[in-house]
Amino acid sequence: MNMKNLSSLMLFWVVLLLVPSFPVRSLSPSLNDDVLGLIVFKADIQDPSQKLSSWNEDDDTPCNWFGVKCNPRSSRVTELNLDGFTLSGRIGRGLLQLKFLRKLSLARNNLSGTISPNLAKLESLRIIDLSENSLSGFIPDDFFKQCGSLRSISLANNRFSGKIPVSLGSCATLADINLSWNQLSGSLPAGIWGLNGLRSLDLSGNLLEGEIPKGIEALNNLRSINLSKNRFTGQVPDGIGSCLLLRSIDLSMNLLSGSVPNTIQKLSLCSYLNLSMNSFVGEVPEWIGEMKNLETLDFSMNKFSGQVPESIGSLNLLKVLNFSANGLNGSLPASMENNVNLLALDFSQNLMTGDLPGWIFKSGLNEVSLSENKLGVNSSNPISASPRTSLQKIQVLDLSHNSFSGELTYDIGVLSSLQFLNLSRNSLIGPVPGTVGELKALDVLDLSHNQLNGSIPMEIGGAFSLKDLRLNANFLGGKIPTSIENCTSLYTLIISQNNLSGPIPAEIGKLNNLENVDLSYNNLAGTLPKQLANLPHLLSFNISHNNLQGELPAGGFFNTISPTAVSGNPSLCGSAVNKSCPAVLPKPIVLNPNSSSDSISEEFPTTVGHKRIILSISALIAIGAAAVIVVGVIAITVLNLRVRSSTSRSAAALTFSAGDDFSHSPTTDANSGKLVMFSGEPDFSTGAHALFTKDCELGRGGFGAVYRTVLRDGRSVAIKKLTVSSLVKSQEEFEREVKKLGKIQHSNLVALEGYYWTPSLQLLIYEFVSGGSLYKHLHEGSVGNYLSWNDRFSIILGTAKSLAHLHQSNIIHYNIKSSNVLIDGSGEPKLGDYGLARLLPMLDRYVLSSKIQSALGYMAPEFACRTVKINEKCDVYGFGVLVLEVVTGKRPVEYMEDDVVVLCDMVRGALEEGRVEECVDGRLQGKFPAEEAIPVMKLGLICTSQVPSNRPDMGEVVNILELIRCPSEGQEDLG
Ligand SMILES: *[C@@H]1O[C@H](CO)[C@@H](O)[C@H](O)[C@H]1NC(C)=O
Ligand SMILES: *[C@@H]1O[C@H](CO)[C@@H](O)[C@H](O)[C@H]1NC(C)=O
Ligand SMILES: *[C@@H]1O[C@H](CO)[C@@H](O)[C@H](O)[C@H]1NC(C)=O
Repeated sequence: MNMKNLSSLMLFWVVLLLVPSFPVRSLSPSLNDDVLGLIVFKADIQDPSQKLSSWNEDDDTPCNWFGVKCNPRSSRVTELNLDGFTLSGRIGRGLLQLKFLRKLSLARNNLSGTISPNLAKLESLRIIDLSENSLSGFIPDDFFKQCGSLRSISLANNRFSGKIPVSLGSCATLADINLSWNQLSGSLPAGIWGLNGLRSLDLSGNLLEGEIPKGIEALNNLRSINLSKNRFTGQVPDGIGSCLLLRSIDLSMNLLSGSVPNTIQKLSLCSYLNLSMNSFVGEVPEWIGEMKNLETLDFSMNKFSGQVPESIGSLNLLKVLNFSANGLNGSLPASMENNVNLLALDFSQNLMTGDLPGWIFKSGLNEVSLSENKLGVNSSNPISASPRTSLQKIQVLDLSHNSFSGELTYDIGVLSSLQFLNLSRNSLIGPVPGTVGELKALDVLDLSHNQLNGSIPMEIGGAFSLKDLRLNANFLGGKIPTSIENCTSLYTLIISQNNLSGPIPAEIGKLNNLENVDLSYNNLAGTLPKQLANLPHLLSFNISHNNLQGELPAGGFFNTISPTAVSGNPSLCGSAVNKSCPAVLPKPIVLNPNSSSDSISEEFPTTVGHKRIILSISALIAIGAAAVIVVGVIAITVLNLRVRSSTSRSAAALTFSAGDDFSHSPTTDANSGKLVMFSGEPDFSTGAHALFTKDCELGRGGFGAVYRTVLRDGRSVAIKKLTVSSLVKSQEEFEREVKKLGKIQHSNLVALEGYYWTPSLQLLIYEFVSGGSLYKHLHEGSVGNYLSWNDRFSIILGTAKSLAHLHQSNIIHYNIKSSNVLIDGSGEPKLGDYGLARLLPMLDRYVLSSKIQSALGYMAPEFACRTVKINEKCDVYGFGVLVLEVVTGKRPVEYMEDDVVVLCDMVRGALEEGRVEECVDGRLQGKFPAEEAIPVMKLGLICTSQVPSNRPDMGEVVNILELIRCPSEGQEDLG
């Protein structure tokens, strides 16, 4: 072949097409028509898998090309088998050149476009298979005219539309026609019945309509007919009974009506008869027993009525029998015992009565569905009749929605192949037999809506394949067995509407596949196991209407749980139930070891027994914290060395954060973390050993422990290790917020000097304030050493100013309490712990109240009320409590012998009784000006108004305080 490239070949081919009688061989004696045709075919399509790479235009013959078969004598192409070659593009005209092609198979590719009207006219072509492509358009009208010797055509599974061409009837050689799964419409051309060589006709999955034309009796070679999933109407023509070779008849999913033609009984070779989903009426014919070869009989979803004939028992070969969703009545024919090959039996949704026959368990049946009938009305229980010597092959047993009653005493465990057991909606009584645990293959167990009692058997854990367990709407009592943890595949667990009691076992938290859980309407009590929050796939978890108490688990699905899923549990708390969890329960104090704030142990010493527990818990926390902080500080020290050694070599080695307002901002990044000091260079001289000792611990709060360390220049700083790491935002957001906090400067705020970040550890570096906390001064000072009135007034005023400044900067403190107010050497207050809530990803009410606003007595009432928006007025409330605390020297809540005294209630009561002066700290009696103390207490009460909008803002508070200190006429307005 002398043509070297495809484009010159194409040019040649164009010339060839334009001049039909062009003498090819005279032009080039060695040129092979088949090479030419195939190369042109190849040029039209895409071959992403390179399946046609052996097709080379330089070859003299295509006979060795992949997918090509030749006649060995003539060396002409007879077969093209390109099934599943992932070819796409259009079928061009190249193939028309293959004059000796007998078989063309391009099935299972991605070919598109229309088909050539001349394809079937190739003289030699016997088989065309273009199925499973994306071909579209009409089948050309004269496609089947002069169809040569075509015997088999399949255009199945494409996108052909329009009508079936009438010319089909003239292609007399056709034996197999498959036009299934296209969008062909219109009626079936009657000419098709003239093709008396036809053996199989598949037109299923189209939009064909009208009646099935008469004349089918001419097809005496027909073996298989499939017209399913069309819109055929009317009756089935009687002639069908004359196609004596028919083995398979599928007329399902049409709109056919009338009764089943009696002629069908003559089709004794028929093994497959499917008339489902039509509107056939009448009784199941008695003659059905004569179709001895039947293996599948499907009459489901029609309007058959009457009883099932006994003759059905003579169908020895029957494997699948589906009569579901009809109007059949009577009982299952006893003769069915003889259907020894039966594998699947479906009589669901009929009006069948009587017992469950014993043969069901003796046969080799795999699947039995008898749901939604009236079976068992007079029988004792559903599977009692089954003998122990069953074949144990049954995999699916659905007896739901019948009238079976009595106890489930039978040893279900014998049915060892059972995968699906549905006995729901019957009238079963008694316990769930423990033998369900022997069903090792069981996926689905549904016993819901019965009258079962007793408890859920511990043995349920033996059914470890269970995926779906439904026992709802029974009278089951007792506890949920912890053995449920063995059912690791469980994704649906519905045991609602029973009398179950006891706790929800923590083991449920191990069932990682759980999606739907319904435990509602029981008597379950206790707290919810925290492990539940770890379930990764939960879609619903309904625990409503039980007696559960305590906190809802935080995190995972439970952050967004719907309130209706938790309602009806009066003692449950958390945001989903719109009820904040009390940080500390009234006396006796029960401490939650998981609570982030254990400072309460110091604030409210309780009995010796409690104290011991508290100590051991706090010791544990201290050890944990020390271990982590040592890692952090070692890292800092290492970084320090690196920074120092690099600075000594070159100042340029320091990196400055771009766009930062801070004058000196050395930033060090290392694998271990990032340290940023807002001003100057980090300089920690303290060895890690100092942090081991509890002496260095300054205190603890909702956000973590605070330690003291000393810089190289001798200056102390306080380092706060955040214990809320898991809640902290991304590094980027964290740094942005921390830098924002670093910019807030006020003489009454503890300055934030820097931070240290790793994904697992965050440290905040604060100015060290030497004088201890206000809490210590008020409540732990020695008798002779107490704050004077002037000290107290300055503390109140300074704190008010710091809060006013924060609010101006749009920062809500959220955590006002006396242990967060530090006193410096000159007696000035410095407020700490501000703005930390901004570091959390969600400012949600629940997190706020449980993690931060845990300090007893300072929490504004709106935290417990979902409908009130939380704004800076919650700080005003906390400040009001703090004012009263400072003036009275009493804690916000005091525990007396058998009474709890809430400070603001006490002061308010005293004010109403005109003896408010008696509330002032006893140590100040006779040493304070009443004209200042009384208005200050009134201001404190106004700040603690229940309604947030009634509280003044902090700017006003500062102004009022300044007026009080220099008494003038303004003061009278306060009353
Ligand atoms: C099928 O062919 C079309 C273009 O004809 C192409 O967009 C699509 O990606 C092909 N699909 C596959 C599975 O090759
Ligand atoms: C018709 O073609 C489809 C798709 O290739 C196939 O699944 C079906 O079995 C064929 N019908 C017959 C009767 O061979
Ligand atoms: C649960 O699994 C464990 C370990 O496989 C087994 O020992 C125990 O018997 C199982 N429980 C039940 C109730 O089958």
